[in-house]
Amino acid sequence: MSRFLLLPFTFVLNHYNKIAYTYDILSWMVYGKRLINIQKDLIKKLPKAGKILILGGGNGKILPIIFNHAPLLNIEYVEASSLMIKLAKKYKHPRQSVTFHHADALTFKLKSEHIYAGFFLDLLDEKQIELLIRKHQFKNKTSYWYIADFQLNKETELYFLRRIQLFFTILFFKITTRHSINNLPKIEAIFENIGYKTNQYSDKKSFICWKIISSINN
Ligand SMILES: C[S@@+](CC[C@H](N)C(=O)[O-])C[C@H]1O[C@@H](n2cnc3c(N)ncnc32)[C@H](O)[C@@H]1O
Repeated sequence: MSRFLLLPFTFVLNHYNKIAYTYDILSWMVYGKRLINIQKDLIKKLPKAGKILILGGGNGKILPIIFNHAPLLNIEYVEASSLMIKLAKKYKHPRQSVTFHHADALTFKLKSEHIYAGFFLDLLDEKQIELLIRKHQFKNKTSYWYIADFQLNKETELYFLRRIQLFFTILFFKITTRHSINNLPKIEAIFENIGYKTNQYSDKKSFICWKIISSINN
């Protein structure tokens, strides 16, 4: 009985343990430094203080970059892989305020002024993203989602090459992490449908991009 009750919780946990130690080298082999560089650009836009929830933070490589930009920012770090958290703890500066949560971001509930999701939302299907956004409905207009992710549409530069790159990326994650979706979710459209707007973005034509999104209904 107890195993049955635990199933939905344990189902997503630790799928990334298998690739935790090799994640950086694998992503570098396919995308060079673009995944970390786009996040460096996005991190420059983060608030200097307050509280931010990081979803699917991975191995914590972003933590020193955040500390250099905003040493006073309080971070709630939600990550499903225990090994990724172990690595992230090594990246954390001793004076950096980070609370690690080994949890499923889809069921994790915590109020936060801002949310950061770097290459995380593209792991979810559109219904899950919608539920996540609604669960964290912001209380005021000065709260933001900071998102770094892939985007692919007819405007995207090198569209066919990017489709092939994406196909192999998804295939790789399907084999190694039980990734379950076949296409990129239309992240921006989901936000817009439930009353959010994109305030800033890095580049509408780039396959790898960042966006800052806020609610318009408060
Ligand atoms: C593609 S990696 C990106 C990691 C990091 N954000 C980066 O940019 O390097 C996705 C991360 O999300 C975590 N993850 C996947 N599903 C999750 C979930 N439901 N809740 C929390 N973390 C999750 C994985 O364990 C993995 O570390």
